[in-house]
Amino acid sequence: MNPIELTQNYTMNRQEFSDILGVSQSLVIKWEKEGLAPDRLPWGKSTRRRYNISHILEARERFRPLSKRTPLSIFFWLVKGGVGKTTLSFNLAGALSRIGYRVLAIDLDGQSHLTTCFGIPNADEENLNTLWNVFYGEDDEAASMKETIIPLSPTLDLIPSSLDVTAVSLVIASETSVERKFNRLSNLIKPIKHNYDFIILDAPPSIDLLNVNGIFASDVIIAPILTDFLSHHSLSLLQETIETLQDYFKQIPITAPLIKLVANNFDIRNNICQQSLGRLQDGNYKGQLLKTVISRSTHLAESAKNMSPVFTFAPKSNGANDIHAFTQEIINTNFEVLNNAQ
Ligand SMILES: Nc1ncnc2c1ncn2[C@@H]1O[C@H](COP(=O)(O)OP(=O)(O)OP(=O)(O)O)[C@@H](O)[C@H]1O
Ligand SMILES: [Mg+2]
Repeated sequence: MNPIELTQNYTMNRQEFSDILGVSQSLVIKWEKEGLAPDRLPWGKSTRRRYNISHILEARERFRPLSKRTPLSIFFWLVKGGVGKTTLSFNLAGALSRIGYRVLAIDLDGQSHLTTCFGIPNADEENLNTLWNVFYGEDDEAASMKETIIPLSPTLDLIPSSLDVTAVSLVIASETSVERKFNRLSNLIKPIKHNYDFIILDAPPSIDLLNVNGIFASDVIIAPILTDFLSHHSLSLLQETIETLQDYFKQIPITAPLIKLVANNFDIRNNICQQSLGRLQDGNYKGQLLKTVISRSTHLAESAKNMSPVFTFAPKSNGANDIHAFTQEIINTNFEVLNNAQ
């Protein structure tokens, strides 16, 4: 296993620190009086107080704060394959956990790409507990869900996948009640959700029943859209998928998640990319499009292969900048408000 490196060089001011912990700044000042001591880093001729992830961990351990943040579950999903679902979910999970947010990444794809990105070797597959054990097993489901969780760092957990997970949909298909058929994953996540700030689910490119469970377990779906010559096809595919989903939503008394799009693989030198991005930004989907545009980046492509998020092995690259902007947009968007307004 190659646990995500907890880099100590990410520092933050008191405002960011209190935001990450979901507490007020005045509470942080109280903690400072009780001995929490941020580093004093040189700043021009004087110094400034900066926190880092060890202070986040220390504050959680010593003061056990109750976060005001509502945990957010994000489902990376599109029926089209190879659009960047895994690349973005891996890098987002890494980026959020690196700065101190508590993240649970869940791999719903039997191809186990996300699991591999996190450095869980295939050789371990036989010993891995996955959603297959939870859905197929006869034991207490909630307990077996907890057993699937692999801690990768103090702020990052993973529920891995293996080939068995492709068969979970078959198990779900035999269920007769709506709750068991569509809401089972959501009900399994509910009791553990408060342990995290973000739950990030990576989907296979299909609309099978496990993915439908993923949809209902999430607050927001993020569909990466390639800005390439096939993007028109990808958009009509998305349109059809949304319509299919809306049909599902009508039949099922469950809250529908928000659907957001993120433009991926953009190359500014390429005319087709520019036209494609223009159509996304001005067309019917502009209200759903996130502001961040993820450019084509060899460093991002290599991040999965290196089993290391892009900001760890190429921190100054354009790919790392895009992931930073994407992460900040996710942190700063109030999806709950958008969802209620939907
Ligand atoms: N912004 C990017 N720049 C360069 N390469 C990228 C970018 N985003 C994704 N890729 C590459 O595109 C390929 C597909 O990406 P990825 O595996 O993340 O897609 P996916 O949607 O998860 O695919 P699948 O549907 O098979 O699960 C990978 O080789 C990845 O490295
Ligand atoms: Mg994938």
